[in-house]
Amino acid sequence: MTSRMIAFGGLFFLILQGALGFDVSTMEQLEQAKKTGQKLVTVRNLQVPAGKTLDFQGLPNGTTIEFAGRVTFGYKEWNGPLMIIKGGNFIVKGLKGHVIDGEGQRWWDGLGGITGGKTKPAPFIYMQLENSFVNDLVFKNAPMTVMAINACRNLIMNNIDIDNALGHTKGGHNTDGFDVAHSENVRITNSRVNNQDDCLALSSGKNIVFANNECRGGHGIAVIGGFDGDNVEDILIKDCKVINNNIGVRVKTILGGKGYVKRVTFDNVELKDVSEIGVVVIGNYYGNNGPKGEPTKGCPITNLVMNNIHGNVLNNGTKHWVYVAEGSDWTWNTNIQGGNRPWQPCKGIPKGLNIECGTNKVG
Ligand SMILES: *[C@@H]1O[C@H](CO)[C@@H](O)[C@H](O)[C@H]1NC(C)=O
Ligand SMILES: *[C@@H]1O[C@H](CO)[C@@H](O)[C@H](O)[C@H]1NC(C)=O
Repeated sequence: MTSRMIAFGGLFFLILQGALGFDVSTMEQLEQAKKTGQKLVTVRNLQVPAGKTLDFQGLPNGTTIEFAGRVTFGYKEWNGPLMIIKGGNFIVKGLKGHVIDGEGQRWWDGLGGITGGKTKPAPFIYMQLENSFVNDLVFKNAPMTVMAINACRNLIMNNIDIDNALGHTKGGHNTDGFDVAHSENVRITNSRVNNQDDCLALSSGKNIVFANNECRGGHGIAVIGGFDGDNVEDILIKDCKVINNNIGVRVKTILGGKGYVKRVTFDNVELKDVSEIGVVVIGNYYGNNGPKGEPTKGCPITNLVMNNIHGNVLNNGTKHWVYVAEGSDWTWNTNIQGGNRPWQPCKGIPKGLNIECGTNKVG
C-alpha cells in the first residue's frame, strides 16, 4: 500500500466514523451506548415501551444524539416524562425525515392536566443542558406539555417543529410548546408550534431570546412572573408570528406572587386573527383558571417594551388589556386592527402612555 492509499484509507475510516453513529433501535442498545461511552448515538425507529422514559442520562458529556426514522412510545397512564436529556456540551439533532411521535391522541380527553382526566405523561422532553445545541427536531402530538427547558445555561435551539395540530379536533389541552424556567442564556429560533396552550411559557430566567418563531392555534407567547419568588429578566421576543391564537402576547404575574419582571422586550410580533386579546399585561393571574380578582403588588413589571406589535384581532375580541397594581418605565407601540369588542377598562398603566383599552364596567 502506498502512503497515499493509507492516508486515503484513514480518511475513509474517519468519514465512516463520522457518518455512522452507534445505532439505538432498542432500549438495551441505549444502555449499551451508555456503558461503552458512545459519543455519537443515532436513535433510529425506536419504540419506547409503555411507562418507560427514553433517558439519555449516563451518556458522556460531549455526546451527539441524532434522531432518525420514527420514535414512538407505548401507552400507559403515568406521569412521564417521555424523554430526558441532561448534561453538558451535547448536540441533539434530528435527521431529515425523522419524527418523534407522542401519539398523544391516545391520552387526549380535552382536560389536559386538570384532575379527573387521564394521567398524561409530561413533559414530552425534559432538558437540563449546558453549552449545548438542539437542532432540527420534529415533535408530533404530545400527550400534554412538550418541552420543559429547565435549569439550562448556554443553550441554542434552532428549527424545532412542534406539531400538535391534531389536538385541535381530538381533545389536546395544556400542550405548551416551550416551557422555560430557571435558565440563563437560552436562544430559541426559527421554530414552529401548533398547539393548544402557550407557545412559549417563560416563568423564570435571564437572557432568553425567542426569535423568528411561528405560533399557531394556541394561547400566544407568555412571560409569567411571580412563581415561587422567581425572577424574569432580560428577555427578548422578536420577529415572531402568532396566528389563530386566543391571545397574542402577554405578561402575567401570579396573583399574590413575589419577584420581579424586568426588561422584557417584545419587538416586531405579528398577530393574525387573534380571537380574544391582542396584548395582555396582568397582575392577577390565577393559574389554569386565568385572571382572578384585583391585581396584587409583589411582582412589579418594569422596563417592559411592546414595540411594533401589529396585525389583527378578530372583531369580537379586544386589542389590549392591562391590569396591574404596579409597573413602570414601559414603552408601548402597537398597531392592531380589529378587536373592537367592549372589554373592561385597564388599570395601572404607567403615566404618560396611551393604550387603547375597553370601557365596560368590570364584571
Ligand atoms: C457534564 O456537564 C455538566 C453540565 O455542564 C456538568 O455539571 C458536569 O460536571 C459534567 N460532568 C462531567 C463528568 O464532566
Ligand atoms: C370570537 O369569535 C371566534 C370565532 O367564532 C371565537 O372562536 C372566539 O372565541 C370569539 N371571541 C370572543 C372573545 O368571544
